[in-house]
Amino acid sequence: MRLKVAIIGGCGHVGLPLALALAPHHDVIIYDINAAAVAQVKRGEMPFRDEGGEQALREALARGLIVTTSPEHLSSCDILVAVIGTPVDEHLNPSFAVFDKLLAQLDEVLRDGQALVLRSTVYPGSSERVQRHFQKRGRKVEVAFCPERVAEGVALHEIRKLPQIISGFSPEGVKAARDLFSPLGVELIELSPLEAELAKLFTNVYRYISFAVANQFYMVASEWNIDPYRILHAMKKDYPRAAHLPMPGFAAGPCLFKDTMQLAAFNNNQFFLGHSAMLVNEGLPQFVVQQMQRRWPDLGQKTVGLLGMAFKAESDDPRESLSYKLKKILELHSAQVLTCDPYVSDARLVAEEQVLEQADVFVIGAPHKRYKTLDYRGKPVVDVWNHLGHGGKL
Ligand SMILES: NC(=O)c1ccc[n+]([C@@H]2O[C@H](COP(=O)([O-])OP(=O)(O)OC[C@H]3O[C@@H](n4cnc5c(N)ncnc54)[C@H](O)[C@@H]3O)[C@@H](O)[C@H]2O)c1
Repeated sequence: MRLKVAIIGGCGHVGLPLALALAPHHDVIIYDINAAAVAQVKRGEMPFRDEGGEQALREALARGLIVTTSPEHLSSCDILVAVIGTPVDEHLNPSFAVFDKLLAQLDEVLRDGQALVLRSTVYPGSSERVQRHFQKRGRKVEVAFCPERVAEGVALHEIRKLPQIISGFSPEGVKAARDLFSPLGVELIELSPLEAELAKLFTNVYRYISFAVANQFYMVASEWNIDPYRILHAMKKDYPRAAHLPMPGFAAGPCLFKDTMQLAAFNNNQFFLGHSAMLVNEGLPQFVVQQMQRRWPDLGQKTVGLLGMAFKAESDDPRESLSYKLKKILELHSAQVLTCDPYVSDARLVAEEQVLEQADVFVIGAPHKRYKTLDYRGKPVVDVWNHLGHGGKL
């Protein structure tokens, strides 16, 4: 059944790929308050990198995709999907401000009989809070929670492949979720809203803790002046029980850290494993700088070239990237830090050539493919990721 669907936050990293994946199956409207991003998407330009995005956007626009900052379009839709950001506040507690602002906006435009599908990662109980909001006002809006579980950069591919968790507060809410996602042809897994909220958080937190295990092993081995990668390769080689252990690296980005803190807050801050993972992952930049100081006691006189400011490889997203934390610490302990990235737009970055020319030592912040084959001019490279295949020893 072809539905009229609005994606609220539809110019965002998670909202836009969803809009594009649904566009062949439903009449899709992208609604976003970011006027610059709306103008860009309307022109057929992706505001960020996502594989296959440009082509899918061109096709969707040709098919009649509406991209707008006007909320009045929302009144005519069957289903509204909200994919706005869900940050934690300065105390690392969930912030409801963005959601409350959205609800105030929706009160003006929503009609009875519509369904609101929440897709952001939320603090457990948030969906029920939204449902109560409408109930209290005597509104008949069906609320569903259907989390995204995609990886940034390949979201469009993954939406068409990964099973979709769905949940709702009524059979009508669940039906709306089914009608929305069924045309994608992916498996639909039904949970209760609270279960679905926790399933999403557990997924991200599990990943964050796995990275922390690898990073902790990295630090233990490095402290003993042993190459962590020799041990990790030996552990994992043809040994299925260690196969899923990730490799060390700067584990960061807009989701994993804040979702771990959301789960901690939900559990009355009694979440030792989550907090430990945070200390390990967030402590890695400081650890690397200490190692550099040991290796180069004259680090204070050196220019450091930091390559890759995105939070992960081949991404243009610098949100919560540990490269920026690393830069701050290095600025305290070196003569100068020069930063570059082929994808991130940030006026503080300099040309890669200048970094290669002027730096005395390099650190790979994000393991972009191009850094594998750069001419480092015989200067040392600090490579936590083992991107160059020389191991992780300084
Ligand atoms: N799986 C992943 O890799 C991944 C990555 C990033 C984020 N997320 C999750 O997805 C959710 C969205 O994150 P994102 O990265 O897409 O955020 P984003 O900031 O890229 O996009 C959010 C969009 O919502 C818009 N917006 C905010 N308030 C609005 C409102 N009231 N009305 C209309 N538009 C509004 C913003 O302008 C922005 O374009 C978050 O819950 C986040 O935790 C998941």
